[in-house]
Formats: sequence, C-alpha cells, structure tokens
Amino acid sequence: MTLVPSRIDRPLSWYVESFGPEYLEIYSHRDAAEGEAEADRIVALLELPRGARVLDLACGAGRHALPLLRRGLRPIGVDLSQALLLEARRQLPGDNALFVRGDMRALPFGAGFDAVVSLFTSFGYFAREGDDRRTVHEIARLLRPGGVFLLDFLNAERVRATLVPHSEEQRAGRRILLDRRLSDDGSRIEKRIRVYPRGASDPERVFHESVRLYDRDDLVALVRHAGLRVTRLLGSFRGEAHDSGSPRTILLSRKA
Ligand SMILES: C[S@@+](CC[C@H](N)C(=O)[O-])C[C@H]1O[C@@H](n2cnc3c(N)ncnc32)[C@H](O)[C@@H]1O
Repeated sequence: MTLVPSRIDRPLSWYVESFGPEYLEIYSHRDAAEGEAEADRIVALLELPRGARVLDLACGAGRHALPLLRRGLRPIGVDLSQALLLEARRQLPGDNALFVRGDMRALPFGAGFDAVVSLFTSFGYFAREGDDRRTVHEIARLLRPGGVFLLDFLNAERVRATLVPHSEEQRAGRRILLDRRLSDDGSRIEKRIRVYPRGASDPERVFHESVRLYDRDDLVALVRHAGLRVTRLLGSFRGEAHDSGSPRTILLSRKA
C-alpha cells in the first residue's frame, strides 16, 4: 500500500478542539468493552476472511481497531487527533504503523482496502457538505473492487424527535452539563459540553460538537454519488431493519 502525503491545511474547527485527552473522560461510557462487542458484529457484517485489510476511519483511541486485529483482520486506524492516537498506540507498543494521523478528506493511503469502517458518528462534522462528499469519495477511492464501506451514524429522525435540550451527568469525578439544540436552519445537531470539577461553579473546559443531520436517504445518496452500491441498512449493530425510531443508522455499501 502506498503512503502519500495529506493534501489539506485545516482551519481550526470544533473537531480539532474537541477530541483531546478529555474526550476519553467525557465519553468514558464508549469504552473498550463496547468496542469489543461491536467488533464481533462488524466482523459478522463485513464477512471478511482472516488477513483482510480494514481501514478504521476516525479510529479515536483504537477501541475497534484493536479488537479487529485480535479477530485476525489487518486493521489500520486513521485519525486527526494526536492525543487519541497516542492513547491507541500506548495499547499496542512496538507497532506504530497500525495508527496513522490523517484527515478523512484527503487520506494518506493508496487503494486496496477490503473494507472501510466509520464508527460512532465520525461523519458529518464539516461546515461544508462538499467536505463530507469528498470524504465519501476518498473512502470509495481506497476500497478495492468489491470492497465494503460500513457507516455507523446517528439516526437523524430520532435525534430530532427525542432531543433533550439540557442534561447533567457525573463522570470521572466531574459534573458535565450538556446543552443540545438544532442549528438555526435545522440542518445540524449542536452540543455544548461544560465540564466542572467537583464543587466548582465555573466550568474548567467547554467543548462543542456539531454534526450534520443526514437522514438515511441523504446517506444513501452520498454513497451512491461516490459510486458505491447500498447492500444493507440496519437500525443498530443488533441487525434489525432501520426505521424512524432506530438507535443508529448502519449503512453497508460495496464498490463495484
Ligand atoms: C466520536 S469520535 C469516534 C472515535 C472512534 N470511531 C470510536 O468509536 O471511539 C470521532 C473521531 O473522529 C476524529 N476526527 C474528527 N475529525 C476528523 C478528520 N477531519 N479526519 C480524521 N478524523 C477526524 C476525532 O479525532 C475522533 O477520534
């Protein structure tokens, strides 16, 4: 596989700021155990032989790539966050080639992957829709003919219907206040996450998230536009059909 340099100079954006070391504390419930369980489902859905090459796109701290490796696949994780890549590499000392820094819009690889996976809503982050389209075209470019793309995304219809504007949680000894809203034009879900040390009245950190609310037809159109053929649409990793109340939108598509 050829390594080619990334072609993007990124403006500073929320997805650059919000995936530092604190992310792992704030999302501590999205942990290795969940990654292990989902890896079983991913292996079953992808139907790949041992040794197949899988790109975990926006791999974070490697909670899926590492279980995929243990299940006999040959994963590579790519992510923009140095902090999360450090944590991923810490769990697999001696193999620095498994986790690579890169931007999903211009990936530093040549073609030849048997599968690309994008897990836990790692899509729809960019201000411009063209950058999301570009990402899907990158995925299609990297797949070998017959290769599979698995996208695990939120269910936009359910997010709109069940949006809780404010909530509070305790995690890692901190109070976390979450504010959620739709953007003024209704096209995005925006979250503000304020982190308070125990007993403090001012937040020590404030993070933002903003994800474009692609519904399932939008996602189908996006992958088709990149030349992929949709093969399955599921409502969660449990494998049931997708509907308006599904917890997730899991879209499988294949390159001709
Ligand atoms: C919600 S996290 C999910 C991480 C991982 N898939 C998981 O399930 O734990 C989203 C990930 O997308 C990465 N990311 C954000 N923007 C990116 C970009 N432009 N290119 C590559 N990765 C990006 C973040 O650094 C973060 O690790």
